[in-house]
This record gives sequence, C-alpha cells and structure tokens, in this order.
Amino acid sequence: MEIKSARFIISNTDVTKCPSGNLPEYAFIGRSNVGKSSLINMLTNKKGLAMTSSMPGKTQLINHFLINDAWYLVDLPGYGYAQRGKEGREKIRSIIESYILNRYEMTCLFVLIDCRHEPQKIDVEFLEWLGENEIPFCIVFTKADKLGPVRFKENVEAYKKRLLEDWEKLPPVFYTSSEKKQGRTELLDYIGSINDS
Ligand code: GTP
Ligand code: MG
Repeated sequence: MEIKSARFIISNTDVTKCPSGNLPEYAFIGRSNVGKSSLINMLTNKKGLAMTSSMPGKTQLINHFLINDAWYLVDLPGYGYAQRGKEGREKIRSIIESYILNRYEMTCLFVLIDCRHEPQKIDVEFLEWLGENEIPFCIVFTKADKLGPVRFKENVEAYKKRLLEDWEKLPPVFYTSSEKKQGRTELLDYIGSINDS
C-alpha cells in the first residue's frame, strides 16, 4: 500500500465530533511517549504531521489524518502519564474509552508497546479490557532501534509469553522503529489488506 496524500483534518475530545463519512480508520494507542505520533509521521513520510515530543503527555486530543482521501489514521492521547494527576488522567481515560467503545469507523486499534520495557500492568490490563469489549486490535513493538537484535528478540519473546498467559492466541504483531523506518511496509500492507477486504 502506498500513501499518496496525508493531511490533518480535525482534533477534538468528543467522539461525536469526529469526521462523518463512514471511512475506515486505524487508531494508535499506548502509554504516553511510546511513539504513537512518531509512528504516524513515519508511516506517512511527513515529519511534522502529528506533533511529537520527548516529554510524555504531548497528544491530548483525538487527531484525524485523512490518507489517500479514503481512510484515516487516528492519533490518540497516551494513557498512564503519572504527572498529569488523577483528574487529568481520568479525563484522558474517558476520551480514549468513549472513542474506542463508540467509534463505529474504527476498524483496528494498534496498541503500541515500548520494546525496552518488561510487561507493564497498565498495558496488560488495557489489552484485557479490549478483549472484554471485543475491540479488534494489533500489537506494535516500538523503538526497535534502541535495542540490539538479541535483546530485542528476548524482550519481545518474554512479552508474548506473558500475554499468552491471558490469551489463547496473539493478534497480529508488528515490530517498528520510527527512526529507521522499520515496519512501515508491513503495517501499511496490513491496513491495505483490511481496506481491500
Ligand atoms: P504522547 O503523545 O505523549 O502520548 O506520546 P507519543 O506516544 O505520541 O510519543 P511521540 O511520538 O511523541 O514520541 C515520544 C518520544 O520518543 C520522542 O522523543 C520521539 O522522538 C521518540 N521516539 C518515538 N519513536 C521512536 C523510535 O522508533 N525510535 C527512537 N529512538 N525514538 C523514538
Ligand atoms: Mg503523541
């Protein structure tokens, strides 16, 4: 799948104000700073399309980017950012939850996991919640460039093992580096295959 055009359409906190038109959309979620916005820029080959920051908590809204005038990539706020305080975290949680549970157009949710970290309770519980609500999702290990190949494989295998304690089988898994443009073809081809089906 080739991306010929990518443009920002709208940011908002309210799922009812997301674009109408029934186009399929693919959303990116995960802990703050995991690399959601960077991945959208990498996939679209547009560095400044989604705003990124080395400080967690950058994306606070639901952001729609129209791709090839035919489907959307959606950048969501990250969850679990401690410094936002309880009230701030609750607000973000309710934005994310209402989007995921109510957005009919959301065709697949990509859950991003930083490949450097051991399985975190917040991610494992989030995946469980997706399962309970029958939300279609994939897993994307990010920042692959930050580890050597041996360490990367060890971490990913350990992570999958942990998930298989809760799940009978795993959803599609992708391995990416936004720095090195790793995983781009695989992710775009996967989206293309769903769009064509
Ligand atoms: P929030 O919007 O705060 O939830 O964060 P986010 O998940 O959108 O993360 P963002 O894309 O803003 O990236 C966070 C930091 O990680 C930035 O400093 C990025 O440059 C860096 N980063 C993201 N992806 C990669 C990657 O693949 N490799 C490396 N080395 N750094 C990355
Ligand atoms: Mg972001």
